[in-house]
Amino acid sequence: MNLLPSGICFSVCVTIFWFTSEVDASWWHMGTLGSQVMCDNIPGLVSKQRQLCRQHPKIMQAVGTGVKEWIGECQHQFQNHRWNCNTMARDHNVFGKLLHRSSREAAFVYAISSAGVVYTLTRACSQGELDSCSCDPGKKGSSWDDKGTFEWGGCSDHVDYAIKFTQAFIDAKEKKERDARALTNLHNNRAGRKAVKRFMKLECKCHGVSGSCNVRTCWLAMADFRQTGDYLRKKYNSAVQVVMNQYGTGFTRALRKFKRPTKNDLVYFEDSPDYCIRDHDSGSAGTGGRICNRTARGADSCEVMCCGRGYDTSRVSRTTKCECKFHWCCEVHCRDCHEEVDVHTCKGPS
Ligand SMILES: *[C@@H]1O[C@H](CO)[C@@H](O)[C@H](O)[C@H]1NC(C)=O
Repeated sequence: MNLLPSGICFSVCVTIFWFTSEVDASWWHMGTLGSQVMCDNIPGLVSKQRQLCRQHPKIMQAVGTGVKEWIGECQHQFQNHRWNCNTMARDHNVFGKLLHRSSREAAFVYAISSAGVVYTLTRACSQGELDSCSCDPGKKGSSWDDKGTFEWGGCSDHVDYAIKFTQAFIDAKEKKERDARALTNLHNNRAGRKAVKRFMKLECKCHGVSGSCNVRTCWLAMADFRQTGDYLRKKYNSAVQVVMNQYGTGFTRALRKFKRPTKNDLVYFEDSPDYCIRDHDSGSAGTGGRICNRTARGADSCEVMCCGRGYDTSRVSRTTKCECKFHWCCEVHCRDCHEEVDVHTCKGPS
């Protein structure tokens, strides 16, 4: 299995292995022996990581099941763009060679995958699926917010646990490598982990006579992952190009006119390909066959999407629900309507 050579990405490299490998979930149900065999066969782990993997097979499994979710979010964020977070499913390494580069897109993938792992793990903790964690034990007793005092109750998401575990796993490898790629990946991984925490919100329930809110019990809950996705997408747009500093100990913005990257910003140091043409080496799937919008003006316009190669138009019939009527009580009846629509798809390179 050809995975990233010396990548750092716990989330990307490791979970991609589970996601794409033929090894199915039954391995994990074989108990200690199963997880031992499994963990020993994931390429590219340092011994500390193998140890964590063997100690926490359930965590690893939880992380694996979350992969589809964050890949789905990545694809949602880029659905109308030449690069659409295509995973080249046939590749063993889901993102092809994209992650060999240190491009803006790779930065986004590192960040959203780290965020996705934190999100999935936190949720598994709250749902009681793991032995090593549960709801945040620190959220006890009373506290206050701008509406007054409240009692902690219910289950507060223990996002700090997930952040710590994810980080421990990554740092085990980081102690071995400290090149430019490692440093930027590490930075983007951390930005992703932190992003989840930004969207924790206090949810409360009122108690008291006849709906008065004399007593409130509250818990901290993660927002929908979409919010993290939207946020990281903005960070992708404003990602900062960096270069190694002269001592090789860290990086600095590539040009003085760029802003200084903060811990929340995504950083990258290689220019991106234009993603017009399929090119395995740069992780580009090309835009041939992609659907484009003839009347749009932005990234999903046929002009931009097809890179000037033109497009084919075909007429397809679609069935939609229409003329829906509400019947008392409580049903909705609709008719099936057929409509013919034109679909435009980019020509491939000739
Ligand atoms: C195409 O773009 C136009 C203008 O932005 C928009 O109104 C329309 O809904 C788009 N069509 C499709 C099929 O997405």
